[in-house]
Amino acid sequence: QEDDFKKVISHAKEYGYVTQSSEIYDGLSAVYDYTQNGAELKKNIREYWWQAMVQLNENIVGIDAAIFMHPTTWKASGHIDAFNDPLIDNKDSKKRYRADVLIEDYVGKLEGKIEKEVAKAGKRFGAAFDRDQFLSTNPRVLKYQEQATDILKRMGRSLEAEDLADVKALIEELEIACPVSGSRNWTDVKQFNLMFGTRLGATAESSMELFLRPETAQGIFVNFLNVQKSGRMKIPFGIAQVGKAFRNEIVARQFIFRMREFEQMEMQFFIRPGSQKEWYEHWKEARMKWHLSLGMGKELYRFHDHEKLAHYADAASDIEFRFPFGFKELEGIHSRTDFDLSSHENFSGRKLQYFDPELGEHYVPYVVETSIGLDRMFLAVFSNALCEEQLDDGSTRTVLRIPAVLAPVKAAVLPLVKKDGLPELAHEIIGALKWDFMVQYDEKDAIGRRYRRQDAAGTPFCITVDHQTLEDRTVTLRYRDTMEQKRLSIAELKDTIQKEVGF
Ligand code: GAP
Repeated sequence: QEDDFKKVISHAKEYGYVTQSSEIYDGLSAVYDYTQNGAELKKNIREYWWQAMVQLNENIVGIDAAIFMHPTTWKASGHIDAFNDPLIDNKDSKKRYRADVLIEDYVGKLEGKIEKEVAKAGKRFGAAFDRDQFLSTNPRVLKYQEQATDILKRMGRSLEAEDLADVKALIEELEIACPVSGSRNWTDVKQFNLMFGTRLGATAESSMELFLRPETAQGIFVNFLNVQKSGRMKIPFGIAQVGKAFRNEIVARQFIFRMREFEQMEMQFFIRPGSQKEWYEHWKEARMKWHLSLGMGKELYRFHDHEKLAHYADAASDIEFRFPFGFKELEGIHSRTDFDLSSHENFSGRKLQYFDPELGEHYVPYVVETSIGLDRMFLAVFSNALCEEQLDDGSTRTVLRIPAVLAPVKAAVLPLVKKDGLPELAHEIIGALKWDFMVQYDEKDAIGRRYRRQDAAGTPFCITVDHQTLEDRTVTLRYRDTMEQKRLSIAELKDTIQKEVGF
């Protein structure tokens, strides 16, 4: 699994998707740059989300709020008091850990033990092996599962009660039972705020302490009444936004899964108090449908309903995705009650109420939010797409099966040879297609090598221009996933490709 993930990271760099920020200066940890193909893939995911959320819903509009917000915003939202990570230092290795992530690593060890048992039994029973049955009946597996559940429950209870001494005690116990850090000498657990601070204004006296927003949601809450009035919106309605958010994450790992500068795609849905359960279920289902519409396979997703809730929520669920390092949170659906709007009312002294013409009364709306990390969605799509395929002739090929609707370059136009007018004809085809989707020209190397390069870069179509094209204006269209080839006229190209890549 670790090797698979290393391959994902190196492939992302080699094929122009993602690279570490400021790499020539040895990089900046947990900060990444999207290069030519990555920027396109990211844009396509953003647009796919925006279309589903804003364009296709009459009662959802989009905004683009500033990253800087008045500092009182973060007092009202609870981020100054409660947006903390529990940290613990190992005195021997001088390494710093997020206590909850460290505890999850111990649980990961137990899951590793379970997988070993599964592999052993799989070998023993061969084709007759039933994984689900084994997991629900094998006594050793059941013991590990129970231990894992107990550990997570105790962690949840201790963190919720801010019982940091118990969090430390738990780590000490676990380090003895299944060592992760290799050392038992720990400091106390301390809370650490994740917001990045900066200053607005030039002089020391007049400048003001600001924070880079740790979520985009607050830009929506403070604009709630503005948008409702100017857009004459009627409850229920939503406001959507895509933008950068910043968190001083301590555990920088897993590539673009956990970054310090990242992008969120969030939507706050404003509803009547009392209807939150119904809308929470509605958005859970709608968001899962959106994921499944990409056709990557429903076994890759699952819901994880939260027991431990954030300070603002009365129900919360994650859509988890099967990343190369296991099932992890991809998107959150949160029932946030009237926490944010009421709190902004209190701190700003402004009314943030809606007059409901049907009920004939004013109220502070409740909110159900959907919140997905754009970078995390990118990682889900990219890591799942990468595969090594065994071909019938015994050779292997690397192919990046990015859903065609999201692929950065939709078609590569390849002249069979660099002479006889074929390059000119290829450029003419590019000239006709480039108004509708991203196309790329490639003439270097033998045609087979070029196909493989485009497969590995994730391009769903290759268009080959050969000598016959000069005579009858037909080309070969090759499909990335099936490697099937068909002959069609230049005039048919646009519609044939558009059918597969449009959304
Ligand atoms: N407004 C609610 C909110 O921000 P969250 O669970 O903290 O909720 C929502 O974040 C989503 O943002 C996550 O599900 C994840 O996809 C993404 N996200 C959060 N922190 C991230 C980070 N450090 N790097 C990349 N994505 C992150």
